[in-house]
Amino acid sequence: MRVLVFGAGGFIGSHLCRRLLESGYEVTAVDVRRDYKVRSFEGHPALTYITQDIRDHAWPLDAYVRDSDLVIDLIAHANPGLYIRIPLEVFQLNFIENLRIAESCVRHGKRLIQFSTCEVYGRTVASIEGIGLQDPEDPRHATFSEDRSELILGPVCKHRWIYASAKQLLERVLHAYGLEQGLNYTIIRPFNFIGPNIDFLPDERDGIPRVFSFFMDALMHGRPMVLVNGGRQRRCYTYIDDAIDCTQRIVENPGGVCDRQIFNIGHPGNEVRISEFAVMMREIYMEKFARRGERAVEIVEQSGEEFYGAGYDDSDRRIPDITKARTLLGWEPKWGLRAMLEATMEYYVNEYARDVLGSHRIPAEA
Ligand code: NAD
Ligand code: UGA
Repeated sequence: MRVLVFGAGGFIGSHLCRRLLESGYEVTAVDVRRDYKVRSFEGHPALTYITQDIRDHAWPLDAYVRDSDLVIDLIAHANPGLYIRIPLEVFQLNFIENLRIAESCVRHGKRLIQFSTCEVYGRTVASIEGIGLQDPEDPRHATFSEDRSELILGPVCKHRWIYASAKQLLERVLHAYGLEQGLNYTIIRPFNFIGPNIDFLPDERDGIPRVFSFFMDALMHGRPMVLVNGGRQRRCYTYIDDAIDCTQRIVENPGGVCDRQIFNIGHPGNEVRISEFAVMMREIYMEKFARRGERAVEIVEQSGEEFYGAGYDDSDRRIPDITKARTLLGWEPKWGLRAMLEATMEYYVNEYARDVLGSHRIPAEA
């Protein structure tokens, strides 16, 4: 089976390609980048890697779709810093360019697995001022299910929501293509995956990665960790190996259970406030990776506007309802938060520091 993977050189794409190749699939991988993230599967005999910007319309995207059996699309600008800095490009790439891939799948009758986001759920009802819920802390107000939950996004002037809007519109268009033209799609909504290869550290190149990389960078360079808006917001973190296990089941699609379905992929048991997440990362770092005599870094606070710029807004809380993945795919996430942080931090302190930053950190025990 020939799988065409767009965004193959990124965080999720690199893990997914390795797993597909190990499982005997033939993979055509497309990404504008080809860097250290692809090392674990580069050179595999069943891999064709194409370094290509899909915005170049002279490139024959359609022919690659025609010649594949399954298309997986992971391409997106996926970091909140970009939604603030370049909202139009976020819309162009995450909606317009991804739509070209979907329409090519319609033309050639190919199955499409589209990576969307848990951000389509937006904010919780409990976060709406004056709503007067009896128990706003009840996790049921923040537990989102694929086919029942309302999608609550913020005002247009908070342009952070352009990412969630573009992804939501793409989902709706796929659904419509399914209804009217028979497109066989599966949509995945990831909930904050973590693992080796997640984003560059801010020092490596200009840009604004996700929170794990900011905190890791602060720890490795002895700088303060910054809590945006006090770090009260909550996330459910999911280890990349668990996420790839679920994605593989979606690729296999036993008995067609994933046809025209949306799946949350996330770990409902790993909910944490960002302030607690920072403290946990700092504790692990000091215990396992700090050099002799190294002092714990400070944790400071900044407003969202100071940190990201005007137009920033945030999801306050999001817990995945994974009943569908459990019942239709028999999937259960296994990794707890502490274990996934230890594994991911170890990768950054050792492999990433050596191979990408060019320095090697000596663990405390050494
Ligand atoms: P990523 O940024 O690591 O991967 C995206 C990849 O797309 C990158 O390798 C990038 O080089 C590539 N790309 C971007 N523009 C391109 C272009 N014009 N042509 C070719 N390639 C291009 O992000 P990720 O974390 O691996 O996320 C993958 C997908 O999953 C995205 O659609 C993202 O929105 C979604 N998602 C991820 C998470 C998560 O927890 N990581 C959560 C929610 C949604
Ligand atoms: C991100 C992206 O929108 C998407 O890639 C994806 O949909 C989602 O992650 C996901 O991984 O599921 P978000 O969780 O807001 O959304 O992204 P992060 O940058 O990881 O931020 C998490 C929280 O930490 C936010 O509340 C942010 O304000 C905060 N933060 C970020 C800090 O407190 N300090 C920092 O240094 C950076």
